[in-house]
This record gives sequence, structure tokens and C-alpha cells, in this order.
Amino acid sequence: MQPRDLSDHVAYQAGRGIEEVARELGRDPSEFIKLASNENPHGPSPAAAVAIRETAATVNSYPKAAHADLTAGLADRWGVDDAQIWLGNGGDGAIDYLHRATLEPGDDILVPTPGFAYYGMSARFHHGDVREYPLSKADDFEQTADIVLESYDGERLVWLTSPHNPSGSTIAVDEIERLAEATDEQTLIVVDEAYGEFADVDSAIALIEGRDGYDARDDVATLRTFSKAYGLAGVRLGYAVVPDAWADAYARVNTPFAASELACRAGLAALDDDEHVDRTVETTRDARAAMVERIDAHVWESEGNFVLVDVGEATAVAETMQERGVIVRDCSSFGLPGCIRITCGTEAETEQAIETLNAVLAERDDPAGVSDT
Ligand SMILES: Cc1ncc(COP(=O)(O)O)c(C=O)c1O
Repeated sequence: MQPRDLSDHVAYQAGRGIEEVARELGRDPSEFIKLASNENPHGPSPAAAVAIRETAATVNSYPKAAHADLTAGLADRWGVDDAQIWLGNGGDGAIDYLHRATLEPGDDILVPTPGFAYYGMSARFHHGDVREYPLSKADDFEQTADIVLESYDGERLVWLTSPHNPSGSTIAVDEIERLAEATDEQTLIVVDEAYGEFADVDSAIALIEGRDGYDARDDVATLRTFSKAYGLAGVRLGYAVVPDAWADAYARVNTPFAASELACRAGLAALDDDEHVDRTVETTRDARAAMVERIDAHVWESEGNFVLVDVGEATAVAETMQERGVIVRDCSSFGLPGCIRITCGTEAETEQAIETLNAVLAERDDPAGVSDT
């Protein structure tokens, strides 16, 4: 027995964890900070942590009421109908549902490169094929309708990431509208807003609902997650917001109870914990500004909770930083072998990252240390 032909499939390369790195280097985990996976440096929403503890006693039940309550809470937050909220096991789970609902075998999706790897992985699981549109480093990973349209060839689904991972660039809602207008009627534009809370751009939900002067569209959906601003990456909770016209497809494509009781109760509590989100966003803004201003290499302006830095040789720099206790993301796997991505940490973590990186860059420029003597 063999699995089906998986030669086109690639394994997801997650940012490395502290325990994993410490074990590999034979060191103590307390010697490291991790700024590699865009996690929340303040931990989970405290209200969500309480909800998880309280829910522990009832996890023998399937999450039916909790799922309905969270769906209603999110629908209320975004001013949409409950049916338009597709809860999933992380944003990744919602990506799967969108592909399940749209792709016939052999259909193509169009994704940004560099970009988030799971769009392509998920499409392939669903027997789809993947084409790419380039976002140019030289143009600061600018995103416009025309840039996407240059590569567009009637794909069933087009993924936009705003803020974009790994660069932090965004695309304006009117450009998304122009793109949706220019693509085929049967092409769905999905705007991945996993980092939306950190950005100064409006959500594309305005296009789904026909608000803020836009006409309502049935060919735009958005993706959101509790993993970043809410600090719930470990519980796995995300959702899509889809047009009313085909929202009922969820019932036929979702994996039953994939958003767990613990996740739904945590999500409900986190949704009301504005203080935690506000604090997280404020820390992120300060960290971004500090890194842009003080890192001795080019740092792209970012609207996410991370920055991309042009360090020359990403693998060598990331490895040296790791040896010195700061785990960052080597972006070679994104096709950017000159860049690392640094997550916005607490004030102290960000300070440590800046100092460590600047020291590593200075030593690489001047290996013998002669310029100081
Ligand atoms: C651009 C983007 N979209 C979606 C996700 C999925 O997040 P999750 O599955 O944790 O909700 C991530 C995770 O890092 C991401 O960077």
C-alpha cells in the first residue's frame, strides 16, 4: 500500500520552537526568545485563559452551543449574518473549507510569491493546482490589482494577503474591488487578513456587505484568525467571512466540530477582551517603529506584527542570532535567501533582537573587528 502521488506536495516549514532549538544545541530553554512565528508576546488573552480552565470540566460534550455562540458573536462584530461566519481549526482550517467549497479537480488557484505556504498545500490536498503572481522585493512587495492581473489567467480562486506575510505590505479595498471587477464571475478573491488587527487598512468585509460606499459582491471572502492579536495560536481557531449568497455551503464542507469547545469558549472570551488586543497592537506598533529606526539594515515598513529585514545571507545571520538566544525566521523557504523576518516582541525582547542583529551585522561587515581599533 502507498499513499497517492504526493510528489507535488511539500511539508509545511513552521518557525522553530524554543524547546526544539534548546535541545538541539544542548542548552537551557530559558536562554532563548522566539520571534519566529508571529505569536503574541503577551501570551493569550487572560480572559480566554480563564475560559479554557473553566471549560475543562465540560469537554466531554461536543461543541454545539459554543460554536453557535461564537459564530453569533463574530457575526455581530462584523455586522454580517451568522451563516456568513465559517469557523475552522485555525485560519488554516478555514482555508481548507474555502478550497473544498470551490475547487473541482484540476482547478487552479493564484497565490502570491513570496507568500504563505499553506494556500498551495491546501489547494493540492483538494486536487487543485497552484499558479503564482510575483510580489517584487525591488518594489517593496507592493500589491495592486494590476500586479495580480498581470499573472491572472482565469483561476478559480485568487489569494491576497493583507498584511502580507512575510513583508507586511497591504492592498487597499478599492484595489481589491478593481481586481474582483476585472476577474471572471466564477473567480473568488479571498483576502487573508490574519494580521488585520495590526494594520491601518480597512477590512475587505466592506466589499462583501456593500458598506462604506462599495457595492455588495458575492465574489470576495476574507480570512481572520485568533492566533495573532488574540494570542490563541495554540488552541487553533480562525474563520472566513463569506458572501451571504453561498454561505450555506459551510454545512456541506466543514469537518464536524473542528473548532473545539475549548477553542470556541476561548474565542468568545477573547473577543470581549479589548484591553489585551489594544495592548498587543500598541506593543506591535512600538516594536515595528523601533526595528525600522534602529536596525542597521533595510527594514520594510510593515503593517503586520513582524518586520522583514534585508540581511544579505539569511541562513547564516539567523543561525548566529539563534546561537545568541534570538530565534528569528530565515526567509529562504519563502524564496528570500537574503531576508529574515522578526516578530514584534515585548519591549525587552525587541530590544534584545535589535542589539543582537546589529552586533551580528557589524561582525559580518568587519570580521576582524579592525574598524573599532
Ligand atoms: C498569512 C497567514 N494566513 C493564515 C495563517 C494561519 O494562521 P492560523 O492557522 O494559526 O489561524 C497564518 C499563520 O501564520 C498566516 O501567516
